[in-house]
Amino acid sequence: MDGNGRWAASRGLSVAEGHREGARALRRTVEAAIDLDVRSLAVYAFSTENWARPPDEVESILDLLEETIERELPDLAHQGVRTRFFGRRDRIPQALREKMATLEAETAPNDRLHLWIAFDYGGRAELVEAARSLVEDGIRPEDVSEETLAARLSAPKLPDPDLVIRTSGEQRLSNFLLWQSAYAEFVFAETYWPDFGEDELRAALEEYTRRGRRFGAR
Ligand code: IPE
Ligand code: MG
Repeated sequence: MDGNGRWAASRGLSVAEGHREGARALRRTVEAAIDLDVRSLAVYAFSTENWARPPDEVESILDLLEETIERELPDLAHQGVRTRFFGRRDRIPQALREKMATLEAETAPNDRLHLWIAFDYGGRAELVEAARSLVEDGIRPEDVSEETLAARLSAPKLPDPDLVIRTSGEQRLSNFLLWQSAYAEFVFAETYWPDFGEDELRAALEEYTRRGRRFGAR
């Protein structure tokens, strides 16, 4: 979900306003995904590197996540959305941690759309953690496999993405789902994230259907 800052700057608004509009775009996009029969949607909300931003911006993002959990995600739960968070939880405020856990528990029976929110997430960090966990558990070298490693990722049940969409015209992965994206298709949209919605999601899905996937085979 990239481009909140540039969206705000182009309108003479604060970066916090950009993130606020980004949260609205998330709600809109999740509802569009339900309508388009998407079953699983993972979004990158805050990276392990985003802590390097100015403290007031970081605070605005943390506040916004809390507000989103309280105001937007319960409505989505009524539409059958199951929400799960992945990434580190030891660097965020306790109250936020509790709200995340409550929402996850309350939406656990939902099955229409699985929403995964990456927060304080980094692809390299999760691979390091997975390696640490293999060593801590005394797994023998011959038992290390793609399956045993994948089972120790931040969200082991997160399906590998078929399609990764990056907004705002940037063409890079920025530490998102490094392991899981091995065979993902990529679509780069020029749209700043706050302007993203049903039309853009539909266009990305249509682009995806035109791709031929071989997974390395003939
Ligand atoms: C979004 O947009 C997302 C987060 C990292 C929270 P940016 O804040 O990166 O927007 P730009 O790249 O400055 O436009
Ligand atoms: Mg950015």
